Amino acid sequence: MHTPPAPGLTPDDILQLYTRHGGLAYAGEDVSQWAHGWQCARLAQRAGASPALQLAAWLHDIGHLLTGLPGSPTVDGIDDQHERLGAHALAPLFGPDVAQPVALHVQAKRFLVTTQPDYRLALSPDSVRSLALQGGPMRAHEAAAFSALPHARDALRLRVWDDLGKDPQGLPDSPAESMRDLHRLMQRVRLRALAPCALPTPQG
Ligand SMILES: [Fe+2]
Ligand SMILES: [Fe+2]
Repeated sequence: MHTPPAPGLTPDDILQLYTRHGGLAYAGEDVSQWAHGWQCARLAQRAGASPALQLAAWLHDIGHLLTGLPGSPTVDGIDDQHERLGAHALAPLFGPDVAQPVALHVQAKRFLVTTQPDYRLALSPDSVRSLALQGGPMRAHEAAAFSALPHARDALRLRVWDDLGKDPQGLPDSPAESMRDLHRLMQRVRLRALAPCALPTPQG
């Protein structure tokens, strides 16, 4: 499917966002947004995920940065709906294989709480707090509808990395190098997302 040019956010905007604001604490955790995204992308890469899913892992919480809300909004009973904001910003740039796992990563948590009883025990305090704001465990019909979505499996994989990627000691050797890696990954995924536009129109 043809992916139109991005009307708003650009890859450079994303790099600047993480460079300027990525040091924000990740909602109630001991890692920054930047370190959390980097760790999630590394986990995705090691798991053999596609470049698009690696990028989704890197940027799944970009919505938190776009809201500009400080700290952990859940403490104040606020659901910032970061998954929707992030997916909306990323879809024109990178297409659905990046945007949809981002859009669904909160729903994936609700799904896993319903389908895997032990999953809830492994959630961080902030994830438990936000779960209530985000609708709580899925009901059976919601879980069935979620699992039928085309990007449900990717969202569930991303969710696992999301829960693991909160190591306070897990930092790249060089912030600049990690930004270069992000830049290269965005370029790679963007070229693939735009590839159908560059194909010649079949003749005859
Ligand atoms: Fe999130
Ligand atoms: Fe996250």
